[in-house]
Amino acid sequence: MTKFWEHYPEINSELEDIKKIIKDNTKEKVINEPLSPVVESGGKMLRPAFLLMAGKFGEYKADRLKNLGAIMEMLHTATLIHDDIIDDSHLRRGQISIQSKYGKDFAVYMGDYLFCKCFMMLSKDFNMEDMSRISKVISKICLGEMRQHYARRSTKVSLKEYLKIISGKTAALFSLSFYIGARESNCDERLCKLLGKIGYDIGMAFQIIDDILDYSGSAETVGKDTRNDLKQGYYTLPLIYEFKNNNKLLKLLKNKELEDKDIDRIYEEVRSSEGIEKSRKLAKRYTNRAFDRIDKLPENNNKVVLKEILDKLLNREY
Ligand code: IPE
Ligand code: IPE
Ligand code: MG
Ligand code: MG
Repeated sequence: MTKFWEHYPEINSELEDIKKIIKDNTKEKVINEPLSPVVESGGKMLRPAFLLMAGKFGEYKADRLKNLGAIMEMLHTATLIHDDIIDDSHLRRGQISIQSKYGKDFAVYMGDYLFCKCFMMLSKDFNMEDMSRISKVISKICLGEMRQHYARRSTKVSLKEYLKIISGKTAALFSLSFYIGARESNCDERLCKLLGKIGYDIGMAFQIIDDILDYSGSAETVGKDTRNDLKQGYYTLPLIYEFKNNNKLLKLLKNKELEDKDIDRIYEEVRSSEGIEKSRKLAKRYTNRAFDRIDKLPENNNKVVLKEILDKLLNREY
């Protein structure tokens, strides 16, 4: 069972089928052994769930959508495995990360393997259009990550630049999950685009909350390393809001090498600042925009579920 969806038995059972497809496509011992715990250990499976929900606005073809959902989740998993190398993270989904357990070299291959497997599955059952959309999203994720890398340790990073970063590294994939689910179900282009925009807003809010959790959450609850962004030199939204009007903080951040005690101080400063609340407000604005767009969707049971999930995501602790 996928805990995040425990109160949604229909989605939950479809997500179980998707896990099975992922397993059936990664049977070799050398990939199955490290991957199984990652698949089983409490990922929220948001992207495939959203893909399926979007698909239900059209002619729902369960098997095809589940296959496509499996591809999206594998792609997401590949980005996480690589992300943990780059962020030097030791915990993922409450377990020791692949890079920590098997080493960075292995994690590079494992992420690459999953990317290739996605393309193999796409070329078997889907068309060039899907292939091209998915490639484009991977390129956006990479560009977002490169922008983030480029902005590391810069106190000049603006709100606009931050939004550009998270739009690429996170919102693009959420957006595509909605769009491609609708498209696969033959929804008309207007509806596909509207669902894509809903996905984009959800993705933006989602990454902002993720960045708040790095400051306010605990590793046990979040299931991954917290207090890590600053250590990696990523100045995310709560800090960006705060350093605009906190000269002491700016001065500290301008020090080339931050010592552990500086990092602790900055974390405490941000936690007790308005930065967290202001970030939450922005996440709420994106969520409200998604709500307004959901209201414009044609009548469908999934509208209510979508709204419930958006609330759950805004108030999540993991
Ligand atoms: C983590 O995504 C990466 C971000 C975009 C913040 P999720 O929080 O959806 O990760 P899992 O799949 O549930 O572990
Ligand atoms: C995740 O970025 C985005 C991608 C994997 C592309 P983060 O580094 O912010 O996510 P977490 O917090 O490690 O999950
Ligand atoms: Mg990262
Ligand atoms: Mg990370």
